[in-house]
Amino acid sequence: MEMLIGGGIAALTIYAAANWQTNDKKKIVHVFNNLDYKVKDQSPALIKTYKTDVYTTYTYNVPYGLVDDPKLQVLEKVLNRPVKISFTNQKLHIKVYQQKLNKEYPYNVFASKGHWSIPIGMSQDGIIYHDFEQIPHMIVSGSTTWGKTVFMRMFMTHLIENNPDGVEFYILDLKGRLAFNRYRNLKQVKAIVGDHKESAKVLKMVKRDIKKDIDYLLSIDAENAKEGNIKTRKFIIIDEAGELKPEKSMSDEDREYARDCQSVMSYIARVAGQVGYKMIFGTQYPTKEVLDPQIKANAIARVAFRLATSVQSGVAIDQPGAEKLEYKGRAIYKTVDEHLVQTPFISKEEIWERIGRYNNVSPTNETTAERRTDIVEL
Ligand SMILES: Nc1ncnc2c1ncn2[C@@H]1O[C@H](COP(=O)(O)OP(=O)(O)OP(=O)(O)O)[C@@H](O)[C@H]1O
Ligand SMILES: [Mg+2]
Repeated sequence: MEMLIGGGIAALTIYAAANWQTNDKKKIVHVFNNLDYKVKDQSPALIKTYKTDVYTTYTYNVPYGLVDDPKLQVLEKVLNRPVKISFTNQKLHIKVYQQKLNKEYPYNVFASKGHWSIPIGMSQDGIIYHDFEQIPHMIVSGSTTWGKTVFMRMFMTHLIENNPDGVEFYILDLKGRLAFNRYRNLKQVKAIVGDHKESAKVLKMVKRDIKKDIDYLLSIDAENAKEGNIKTRKFIIIDEAGELKPEKSMSDEDREYARDCQSVMSYIARVAGQVGYKMIFGTQYPTKEVLDPQIKANAIARVAFRLATSVQSGVAIDQPGAEKLEYKGRAIYKTVDEHLVQTPFISKEEIWERIGRYNNVSPTNETTAERRTDIVEL
């Protein structure tokens, strides 16, 4: 009996899937007609259907003179599923995904690739990873409450789990250190500061370290950290870089510190990537003023959560789109290619379960600020 029911359901599923695809094909033809996507009486001709578990691609020969048309994106609404359209060698490819992305993916579904790779998120085509050895600097933008801090804490956790003895963090949390304060005593966190003066000190210290490392690499004729067998990678996380922009409203002192910070951040972006230093530049306000051209030119990995306007999206990822992201944690990841992803969600409790064991509470009970001030005064 069970087999019969099972068989019945399977047959029904196969029938429904087949019907669904026929429907998709018909709907696509309707859309071509409605949009008048043809040349005279010549319409695109379906030449191939390719199906996997995740998507179906329909390939069309299109009449000479016809190219892809942004209006075809309406297919996403007509088919009510994600659609990717591409055009190569006079052929139109319409890739229709089976399912929409979920609104949340827990961190534990993202397998680790080890070393300096982090999961960026789940895309329609599977998990997307970023390798900091390939592209050292990253700009993370997004209006308030769309997921920047969760993302930064997620990748910090991931890198610590992958390389507990070979990673260092220098965190400039200009929102009063609240988001990262709990991690101040982790052995991998070398500095965490929350104001202009301390940020300038930490960045100057990092610059000194970079210069030392460059001298060392020169002395052994190595071109980069890997060749020079430098094992540790240093991540400079800046969570609200907009706060480091020199402003008239600042005190003269703070404006001077902000200028120092700008100059070192630009230096890190230009020269430090290959030496083993990675900068993550987080901002709510991706404007031309906040994003120094040198930083923008060198931080070629971009993660954009929802932004306020298409102009901001243009500054952050060189194209509109981030202003249309609908869910928290949904982002556009752009390097050479571009992917729509749902970034991994990890709670503070889970972070602590995973990396809390690296917490070094100092026996003298001194506060982090005191300890770190010692470090930054070096
Ligand atoms: N990847 C995610 N998946 C699902 N929900 C998320 C994700 N990331 C963030 N959220 C939700 O969005 C909330 C705000 O995220 P987060 O604190 O990272 O925002 P933010 O961009 O840092 O904001 P702000 O600029 O104000 O600091 C989280 O508390 C969580 O509820
Ligand atoms: Mg935040």
